[in-house]
Amino acid sequence: MRLLSIRLIVSLIVGITLVSLASSYYEALGEQTGLRRDLERRSEVFGESLAGNVEGDLEKDSAQDLQRIVQQYGNREHLAGLAIYGRQGNLLAVTPDLASTLATVPSVMSQALRENHGAGEFQRVGHASLHIYAVPLHQHDEVIGGLAIVHDSGYIRAESLHIWRQTFLRALAHVFLIVLITLLIVRWSIAGPIARTAQWMRALRTGRSSSHQNANDLDLFRPLVREVAAFAESLNQARSAAETEAHLRESGESLWTADRLAVHVRKRLGNGRLFVVSNREPYMHIRHGNSVDVVVPPSGVVTAIEPILRVCDGTWIAHGSGDADLETVDEHDRLRVPPDDPRYSLRRIWLNKEEEEGYYYGFSNEGLWPLCHIAHTRPIFRAEDWKCYQAANLKFADALLEEMKDVEKPIVLVQDYHFALLPRLIKEKRPEARVAIFWHIPWPAPQAFDISPWRRELVEGMLGADLIGFHIQSHCNNFMQTVDRVLEARVDWEHFSVKRLDHLTLVQPFPISVDFTDVEQPESTQDSYVDRSALRKNLGVESTYMGVGVDRVDYTKGILERFLAIEHFLEKYPAYQGQFTFVQIGAPSRGHLKNYHDLMVEVEAEADRINRRFQTDNWKPVIFLNRQHSHQEIQSYYRAADLCLVTSLHDGMNLVAKEFVAARHDENGVLILSCFTGAAHQLLDALQINPYDVDQTAEAIRCALEMSPEERKLRMHRMRKNVREHNVYRWAGNLVAELCELRLDSSDKSTDGPRASTAAWG
Ligand code: F6P
Repeated sequence: MRLLSIRLIVSLIVGITLVSLASSYYEALGEQTGLRRDLERRSEVFGESLAGNVEGDLEKDSAQDLQRIVQQYGNREHLAGLAIYGRQGNLLAVTPDLASTLATVPSVMSQALRENHGAGEFQRVGHASLHIYAVPLHQHDEVIGGLAIVHDSGYIRAESLHIWRQTFLRALAHVFLIVLITLLIVRWSIAGPIARTAQWMRALRTGRSSSHQNANDLDLFRPLVREVAAFAESLNQARSAAETEAHLRESGESLWTADRLAVHVRKRLGNGRLFVVSNREPYMHIRHGNSVDVVVPPSGVVTAIEPILRVCDGTWIAHGSGDADLETVDEHDRLRVPPDDPRYSLRRIWLNKEEEEGYYYGFSNEGLWPLCHIAHTRPIFRAEDWKCYQAANLKFADALLEEMKDVEKPIVLVQDYHFALLPRLIKEKRPEARVAIFWHIPWPAPQAFDISPWRRELVEGMLGADLIGFHIQSHCNNFMQTVDRVLEARVDWEHFSVKRLDHLTLVQPFPISVDFTDVEQPESTQDSYVDRSALRKNLGVESTYMGVGVDRVDYTKGILERFLAIEHFLEKYPAYQGQFTFVQIGAPSRGHLKNYHDLMVEVEAEADRINRRFQTDNWKPVIFLNRQHSHQEIQSYYRAADLCLVTSLHDGMNLVAKEFVAARHDENGVLILSCFTGAAHQLLDALQINPYDVDQTAEAIRCALEMSPEERKLRMHRMRKNVREHNVYRWAGNLVAELCELRLDSSDKSTDGPRASTAAWG
């Protein structure tokens, strides 16, 4: 640092001195030229005006008069003297001091006499610097002699030297001041922040600081601080991954972590590449006034797939549905995401209003969604929607094939009911690609599926895949029975596979989960208390107990049934009035569809009705927050709640149940869970309810609030163990391993069953 300062100072001194000297040189030169011009002009004016006087006396040829004139005018400022010459250049009169200097006629005088006009020149005579101006003298227009005006021009040089001296001193003062100011700036604005940044980085390296740095005083270094913060975040993650690994080795557990999945997937992919196709994109760019916000949509698919792509750097193909999405992609409609820490590519597909209407709102959400969920909403199948669904599947398939074109071993994970036709479209063009489709919603009983006019095409499209995944075994069973019912195919119940037209498809359950890798750590309950009082303050209620529900506002989620159960609970156990508040976070969803729009209105009205019935000045039973909340916001509700209510009428898995469990580091809180969710098959320590049975749910609420701390802890501990062991990394690891280890050659499969050997994954 010291060496750097010395170098800086020397460079500054040299630089500023050179600049000052150059500017002084030009300044002095300018001044000198000005003074010379001024002297020339003065000589000329003086010479011309004196010539008239001299001409008369010269005419008279009076040497005495001429000498008088010379002496009379010879004492002006800087004037060295005068001389008068005759026609032949003979000296007639001269200032005595100049007699010897002007004894021989100066060349400028000869020139003036010859050319008959005034002329001047600077001359050096001995040590003296002189300026001589010669004027011809006339009689009747005839040249009869000449007058020489001689100035001492030495003062011009003296003046220039003075300017040089002044400028030099000024430059010296400038150098001093600039160096001083620069050093102060360096010290305050650069050296100080660098020292603080270094200190912070040292603290990060030794694990004594968070990756967050207050960058207020590091203005100049903001970009650097941002980069270091991201770097530190990765360092922290790596450190905690290493700690987790060490802990796992120590406790002999075999937990799936992001790092383990990365190694696992890379090993299986070899030089292959992972492609994910889903309707919903992981990051939407939404315009807010003049700025563009990045929004993570509320979607189970996004929650589950995002951590996998982050570790495997593949390509995710999805519908670009944000209103600023188009502005944020490159010329190939791609961008790297997450935007603040790019790890994988997102390829956006554009759908016009009509396509979105028919494929997404119509066929997917008015047809397939109610068809697969038993929630007693009648599916609507329109021929125009079916056409759009086919066209959209084709459009996504084309984009996927384009993305895969230079990839030798593509591994494709198709997500959800929006793309039943995609597996076959891909396999027709790229038979060597390994394709799986994961169905995130339930598969209904075959008789229920019968009502779809295109049931055959849908099932055939799916059977293009090498692997079909559902959350639970009963969905697999329903699918196999459906195939049996609608198609000519060999359904193998022993290996859970379907052979159709020489292509074999494996059908397997893969219970999806959440990103939960925390090792057992006795977490203080501090967080929950902090969260709880902060939340209560924000919500403006005072209550001893708090319940939480987090859902997209969808008729399958049983939100109205949940509210009825809360009302019934307060009716049945009035002691809890004023004591228990239920916070429902409801993310608006598919509001473009009438029944979703109506449901939102109905949920709001129902919350109001119950509140009007019970509320007091500082308490209400139901708080309905109908907007999308960030992951962090939801976490604080999960941690603050005494219970979480999941009352889906039918749900493939329901990740809210698992997120709640994952959030409870304190091993507190009770999960009340609908038995019609996939999650109910794994979270056996939840209080399981039939959401249609309002009294049963009300009893579960009472039971949760009155449960002994020991039992709560035991139940939560067991559920956390389950979710930790069956986290999303395990889900992805199993899915990818199963897909990579399948034999694609169906003749082999027919003898050995679908797999060459059963994968030994956890
Ligand atoms: O699995 C069901 C699912 O696809 C989830 O990913 C998501 O919660 C929802 O359905 C889809 O919501 P959206 O229509 O808003 O993408």
